[in-house]
Amino acid sequence: MLLIKTRKLLIEHLSTCKTSESLGLVPTMGALHIGHGALVNRAVRENDVVVVSIFVNPTQFNNPNDLEKYPQTLKSDMAILRKISKNIIVFAPSVREMYSSDVKAINYDFGGLEHVMEGAFRSGHFDGVGTIVESLLTLVKPDNAYFGEKDFQQLQVIKKLTEIRQIPVKIIGCPIVREPNGLAFSSRNERLSKTIRNEAAFIYKTLKSAKIKFGTESAKNIKDWVTNQFSQHPDLELEYIEITKTKTLKSIVRKQKNKKYRAFIAVYAEGVRLIDNIALN
Ligand code: PAF
Repeated sequence: MLLIKTRKLLIEHLSTCKTSESLGLVPTMGALHIGHGALVNRAVRENDVVVVSIFVNPTQFNNPNDLEKYPQTLKSDMAILRKISKNIIVFAPSVREMYSSDVKAINYDFGGLEHVMEGAFRSGHFDGVGTIVESLLTLVKPDNAYFGEKDFQQLQVIKKLTEIRQIPVKIIGCPIVREPNGLAFSSRNERLSKTIRNEAAFIYKTLKSAKIKFGTESAKNIKDWVTNQFSQHPDLELEYIEITKTKTLKSIVRKQKNKKYRAFIAVYAEGVRLIDNIALN
């Protein structure tokens, strides 16, 4: 497996690949878990050459504490990737390498996708994500790029990014991978105590009930019900429950036939922010 730390070496290496070979990119911030494994496995199955980037992107953290606590585990990440395929190219640049001396995000207009939910609670987050993903896509020039549906809003933002910047890449969203109790895999789960990690299974359990209720009840009733469920659970502090159209992420007004909807939740548990979502129809 090849570990590359500079843009120059990555470009040089990729220029030796045959033009007939398909190239897949899996952007990550490291601290790899089974959810990332699913993305990388799929990329390996569907492409001749795969680049996995590992870069903790400072401009997408609105909370400096969160950035500071973000685990940096390159050695164990490499071991996980090596088990998937020895042919993976790992790109692990420094902040200076990606941003030079100007560690700033570009200000994007993602047509409103960036202002709701995560965007509303994490100011500037999607500018940071857009900046680094655009930079990686233009550097690697992959045919396919893989992102998890746990960050469903991020996935929609990145699809929009490639549209507005006309980047010729197929953005592939991959299903959420869950721990045995239903909690969505996240690097943040490691920061939870064993008890709360078990209790956090309540998030997915509530989303599944919301999905059943969606068949017969109004979105307002469901949101009220979810809010009430969490109010009885003092260890899990609900930040938001939203029900939106899948594509635009606009809040549902009235259910329309032939439209797809999704429910989104953000919760604090032991000071750790957890997000999850589910397709409702
Ligand atoms: O989902 C992530 O891990 C990050 O937001 C991404 C897409 C790698 C950009 O830093």
